Amino acid sequence: MRLKPLVVTVVLAAAVSYYVYTPLPAAIQEPWKLMMVDAAFRSAMHLAMVKSWLGLDHYIPTVRQSIEDFEKIMQTGSNGGVIPGVKVSDITFAGVPVRVYEPPAGGEGHLRRGLMFFHGGGWALGSGKTGTYDTITRMVSDELNAVVATVDYRMYPEVQFPEPYLDCLAAAKHFLSSEVLAKYAIDPERVAVSGDSAGGNLAAAVAQEISTDDSMSVKFSVQALVYPVLQALDFHTPSYVQNQHMAILSRPLMVLFWLQYLSADPSLRWQVTANNHSALRHSAITPELRSRLDWTALLPQEFKQNHKPVVVEDGSHAILKKVPGFLDTRAAPLLAEAEVLAKCPRAYILTGEYDVLRDDGLMYARRLRDAGVSVTSDHYEDGFHGCFNLIAWPMDFEIGRRTVRNYINWLQNNL
Ligand SMILES: *[C@@H]1O[C@H](CO)[C@@H](O)[C@H](O)[C@H]1NC(C)=O
Repeated sequence: MRLKPLVVTVVLAAAVSYYVYTPLPAAIQEPWKLMMVDAAFRSAMHLAMVKSWLGLDHYIPTVRQSIEDFEKIMQTGSNGGVIPGVKVSDITFAGVPVRVYEPPAGGEGHLRRGLMFFHGGGWALGSGKTGTYDTITRMVSDELNAVVATVDYRMYPEVQFPEPYLDCLAAAKHFLSSEVLAKYAIDPERVAVSGDSAGGNLAAAVAQEISTDDSMSVKFSVQALVYPVLQALDFHTPSYVQNQHMAILSRPLMVLFWLQYLSADPSLRWQVTANNHSALRHSAITPELRSRLDWTALLPQEFKQNHKPVVVEDGSHAILKKVPGFLDTRAAPLLAEAEVLAKCPRAYILTGEYDVLRDDGLMYARRLRDAGVSVTSDHYEDGFHGCFNLIAWPMDFEIGRRTVRNYINWLQNNL
């Protein structure tokens, strides 16, 4: 009789550890903590998928709710990173919801820096107002004496490409207008655009558009991209292959985010994962366009290792016709021509070794440099996707604090 609870406990413990345990590269520090974070995120995704199979709800609102609940628990354990003196207002820029942070110092007579930030979350999740985004943004505003605006652009499933991009662009143009710069006492020569992950994608795309728009008298002076998403034609870059099963952001999840963003049928995921959408024959991809994401030429040898490019001969001709977003530089800024890149602002690009998006960032750094733009490539040998946000108890990582510190230091010296 006494044996039964024991057996149940052992079986349960085994089931939980099986669910939680994810093999991680040896370079990852605090691996058990990362496994817990990953298991929490995975269980939120699984719960949401089950609810959507049962026809109860679309899965995204469920995941959003789980994240919100989790953040409430976390906030009870910390002070939320509130910095006294930073004034926060929730308003709109050109109809797009933004949160503006104004630093305590300055204003009177002397101008301050400006920074616009787009949050990550696969163009489907997250908000600039929540969790560590709010914490990091307060730090940036306080330490850099910067007026920071975080943008809550609309997302999937409510809207798809190009709407999130257009929201960000509209907010950015408003921020750079002379009225708004004057109102907040921002120095027009010192305005940054920044974002992480899908937000880094939006920041890179918006920076390209503003840089080449002759009607804009004030442009961004720097761009700070934290493990940005930059292309969807090659899911076999060495980093996509090496990290395809990695915690937090696996290749299947990134492919899913892309298909959702570009309004593509989710059933295309196998074709797209196989690079069948970017096949050599029957394709709208010229050799010159292909060279813009040719990692065999753009990556340093240490990242190429023994990886072989996957370029399919035939593939599926129909996909690029059906999903033009794959070739649109507003969705995939890495595909922009060199003439556009040459006009882009000085860049900071953060990448992590254990991130499927590592090579997107490294290739963009190389292409910007080739176009004559000054680039700081800040690569972390023990970095993984999402680490930039993991700075608050109980999900605080040393790598998280280190990346945020270096990001702020770079802005301190370059903005
Ligand atoms: C990719 O395209 C080839 C034809 O070139 C086809 O034989 C193969 O089944 C496709 N792969 C997937 C995963 O659909």
